[in-house]
Amino acid sequence: MVNTGETTYLVTGASRGIGLEMVKQLLARGDVVVAAARKSAKATNLQAMKTDKLHVIELDVENPTTIQAAAAALKRDVPCVDVLINNLGVLGSLERSSEADLEDVAWVLKVNVLGTLAVTQAMLPLLRKGGKKVIVNTSSTLGSIGNKELLLADDEARRGNAFAWGAVAYNMSKAAMNMQTMSLAADLKDEGITVISHCPGWVITDMGNSGAEPFDGKAGPELTVEDSVRYQLKNIDGADLSKTGLFLPTPGSACRGKGAQHCGWHATDIARLGTFWWQPTF
Ligand SMILES: NC(=O)c1ccc[n+]([C@@H]2O[C@H](COP(=O)([O-])OP(=O)(O)OC[C@H]3O[C@@H](n4cnc5c(N)ncnc54)[C@H](OP(=O)(O)O)[C@@H]3O)[C@@H](O)[C@H]2O)c1
Repeated sequence: MVNTGETTYLVTGASRGIGLEMVKQLLARGDVVVAAARKSAKATNLQAMKTDKLHVIELDVENPTTIQAAAAALKRDVPCVDVLINNLGVLGSLERSSEADLEDVAWVLKVNVLGTLAVTQAMLPLLRKGGKKVIVNTSSTLGSIGNKELLLADDEARRGNAFAWGAVAYNMSKAAMNMQTMSLAADLKDEGITVISHCPGWVITDMGNSGAEPFDGKAGPELTVEDSVRYQLKNIDGADLSKTGLFLPTPGSACRGKGAQHCGWHATDIARLGTFWWQPTF
């Protein structure tokens, strides 16, 4: 396969939500995109985007053979992967943490943590051939253990945020994902591979809306997928070895308006977020 010099992005969880919008915006600016969907035949939105710059592949991280098959197919179809965007994810239950169903916890960790690591490992040979060599783990501020203002707030305040009240599996999975970012960044820096985590903000998607349901319409995501992805692409385009191992908040992505009082984050607090995250320098 001849390298045409174009930048190739692999986006997981591309069937809907943030992943689908990421595919749209990357194609619109002329990039080559590999869109990975759990059920590719049912991903009609992707199938409808007919362009020779789009490759749709099947990848279900609960079915490891699909990961290996996807890597093998890509070796034939594209010369390399420049940027891997590990976007896929599940939310799991929003039950109180102390009462969380352990099977649900195990499922969320399997998909969000082990699934992402498996994809990264399988795609490394293609990333090594790429020019940009960037791995992006789509994480969340909810993975921040240092977020004591919200996580250790009194019950009344925590009840105002479904993610602080419950979602132990999801929050644990994003904390683990951040450590995955750190470990891979350390492993791969000498090969020139950059690994970052970042947060897309609270975004209007199936997942974002599920997090809002317990608020009974009192709060919810206000960031559109279009805006979120525009902001995310700034992080992704700016990712280089000087940023490896970092968690990058998405500029302007914090909860705003009526959601802010429940979420505990405000757009103006973005700079302050940095103090909550590990910011290693290698
Ligand atoms: N929305 C938010 O407010 C928000 C906030 C912070 C972080 N995030 C993160 O952003 C990412 C995208 O979220 P979203 O809001 O776009 O979620 P979404 O609308 O629920 O979409 C999730 C995507 O992940 C895919 N997926 C689920 N299980 C999978 C599996 N086993 N194998 C492969 N793909 C699988 C889904 O495929 P199917 O369509 O086949 O189910 C879908 O494409 C996630 O990592 C999420 O944690 C979102």
